[in-house]
Amino acid sequence: MISSLRGMNDILEENYERFTHFINTATNIAQKYGFHFIETPLLEETALFKRSVGESSDIVGKEMYQFIDKGENDVCLRPEGTAGVVRAFIQKKLDKAGGTHRYFYHGSMFRYERPQKGRLRQFHQFGVESFGVESVYEDAAMIMMAADILLACGIGYRLQLNSLGDSNCMPPYKENLVNFVTKLEDKICEDCVRRVATNPIRVLDCKNSTCQDLYATAPKLINNLCSTCQDDFDKLKKILDANSIAYEINTNLVRGLDYYSKTAFEFVSDDIGSQSAIAGGGRYDRLVEFLDGRPTPAVGFAMGIERLMELIQMPEVKREGYYIGAMDDEAVDLVMNLAHKKRQTDKTTIDYKAKNLKNHLKGADKANARFCCVIGTDELENGTIWIKDLEEKIENKIPIMEF
Ligand code: HAM
Repeated sequence: MISSLRGMNDILEENYERFTHFINTATNIAQKYGFHFIETPLLEETALFKRSVGESSDIVGKEMYQFIDKGENDVCLRPEGTAGVVRAFIQKKLDKAGGTHRYFYHGSMFRYERPQKGRLRQFHQFGVESFGVESVYEDAAMIMMAADILLACGIGYRLQLNSLGDSNCMPPYKENLVNFVTKLEDKICEDCVRRVATNPIRVLDCKNSTCQDLYATAPKLINNLCSTCQDDFDKLKKILDANSIAYEINTNLVRGLDYYSKTAFEFVSDDIGSQSAIAGGGRYDRLVEFLDGRPTPAVGFAMGIERLMELIQMPEVKREGYYIGAMDDEAVDLVMNLAHKKRQTDKTTIDYKAKNLKNHLKGADKANARFCCVIGTDELENGTIWIKDLEEKIENKIPIMEF
């Protein structure tokens, strides 16, 4: 038997219901916030992710599904959605057009990670990206949208917030941090030694507890923000307070992708084990420019659908539509015709086999139909159909013409 690859799951049966319920809920809310659907390819030039997510990140450094295609192009399966959306935005010359452009998307992402609960190699994200708004109000709106989606799905969360500064305050901070960490070089883990050389702020979210203890007294960017970043961060906190969105400041929240500046946030759940990040995002004002577009402020987030599917509270499923069956072989054709007509307006399930009433009632129950409709020899002769409302528990016989 051939099975799916490690870390790559099928979504079907009850999981499919959770999946579609989440997508529908999130889509609905994103549209209320004025976002439009965008679809970008699963396969992109490898250079796109190297330049955006960053060569020093684990995603690009260790986890890409990268290969040379038959035309000798260096390509990879997208590990995340933001880079492709930015590429599409620039390719369509929307950076030159100016104005505000807001998109949402959902689809598969691929990261060659060590699979475990909540960590897959092919997983699904629902993401949003907003271009053209510099104001921190947009950062707040992003966080509110993510919170609204989680609330609508009955998912509890803790929101963690940080500011990563900008090109003004980040470089001197980095220098300070490097000075601090270099003194500890013989005590920190190998990964951190590498990070000091490639992307020093990533040492702050090292999972090694010895490193974490050593960094307890490290300088914090949040205490070294320039006045613009400080004002924006204060304003963001004020807006969230005014809208009753609770948050914690996590000065070690640096995110695993290199393109962020200023606002960085993550929603975490305490109910799904160690892979607790259910959504993450932030501002990335420099990325459009890095990818050769006209400088355009941008902010966005993405949610991990598989992790959310574990937490989602499904609404009560109500009986819906019709189930139609025949009790006699001769009635099957008529049942088929009636089902075709009913399907123009209602969900309709049909059983092609002639069965007794008890079995049809079972079938209707399994299909979760509201009405069980059956035609036997009697009904065929009289031109009627037997209908039972399975919710109200009322049964009736009506002329087929009225069905
Ligand atoms: P990210 O934090 O790498 O951000 O991923 C977002 C979410 O995807 C995570 O919070 C997590 O729920 C889910 N996720 C990530 N890796 C896996 C995995 N291996 N298995 C299952 N779920 C996973 C981004 O991808 C950014 N593009 C978000 C963004 C959009 N920032 C600005 N705009």
